[in-house]
Amino acid sequence: MGEPARKVEQNPLQGEQHSAFTADVLEGLSGTPKQIPPKYFYDEAGSALFERITDLPEYYPTRSEMRILRRHAADIARLVPPGAALIEFGSGSSKKARVLLRGKPALSAYVPVDICGEMIEREAAELRADFPQLKVLPVTADISKPFDIPAVAAAAPVRVGFFPGSTIGNFEPHEAASFLRNAAQILGRGAVLIVGVDLIKSTEVLHAAYNDSAGITAAFNLNLLKRINRDLGGTFRLETFEHHAFYNRERNRIEMHLASLKRQKVRVAGQTIDFRAGETIHTENSYKYSVASLGALARGVGWLPVASWTDSRKYFSIQVFNLASDRRAAEGLAGP
Ligand code: AVI
Repeated sequence: MGEPARKVEQNPLQGEQHSAFTADVLEGLSGTPKQIPPKYFYDEAGSALFERITDLPEYYPTRSEMRILRRHAADIARLVPPGAALIEFGSGSSKKARVLLRGKPALSAYVPVDICGEMIEREAAELRADFPQLKVLPVTADISKPFDIPAVAAAAPVRVGFFPGSTIGNFEPHEAASFLRNAAQILGRGAVLIVGVDLIKSTEVLHAAYNDSAGITAAFNLNLLKRINRDLGGTFRLETFEHHAFYNRERNRIEMHLASLKRQKVRVAGQTIDFRAGETIHTENSYKYSVASLGALARGVGWLPVASWTDSRKYFSIQVFNLASDRRAAEGLAGP
């Protein structure tokens, strides 16, 4: 008994996080076009749905990236200075870090950082069991903002950032540049940054990856409305909204939207939001890069490309950067 009720109440946001969610949703739904930042997809249910997406036959990025990591784990380990602390931005299930760890980099600590606290605490316990020599020090934080790293990692001779999964593609290009600046500040002098990025490719392959036949990506998108209903007293009727995803070729990005199937009013956090029939909430952009275009973005904020690998179809890339040693760049002060 009590099980269904616990599920409905799962993972309610507390305090500051709850106020930020309320403010971002109300601001995003009052503007034109309506939008909500994609970081709010990842409550417990959303994170579980995303894990299912990564196994879908149409969703190639995770498998392609895993193949590159497996193939080049030893090459990557050679670029990790001895005693380094590995800081993973948006670590989720830490599956990819496990592959890197098998390349045996000489690490002093592994710091998974994610907004979904429950998940990283659970994964940290499993990692400690599988890698008993490794200090695993999880941090619950929003990776798009500055955050503190544990003292052990701050005291390491050097820090290596790991940002796989093409999560960088979910930032607007100017946000990606500030993320890279922020990473430079968190990781500090001599840092290395390993980034996984989805590459520009045919519209058909991209379209299928975000419109899977099992409807899991649609459920992931619609779960945002469920979360708003649960956490912000929303009255969204999910059957009156539809998942839309398409490739915007001019901007090299997949856009995800939730389209209202009719004219309607919805209450959220005590306010009334009007929808026209067909009006959408823009919920995510997933930018696709070339090795050169990400390299140019990174260079602009002080990260120098040192290595990159792709899979045989050139669908995905792993790119490695070093923090430029001049002071201006090392502090992430260079403009984009
Ligand atoms: C997490 N991120 C890189 C995924 C992507 O492909 O942009 C999120 C996602 N959205 C729909 N499917 C997967």
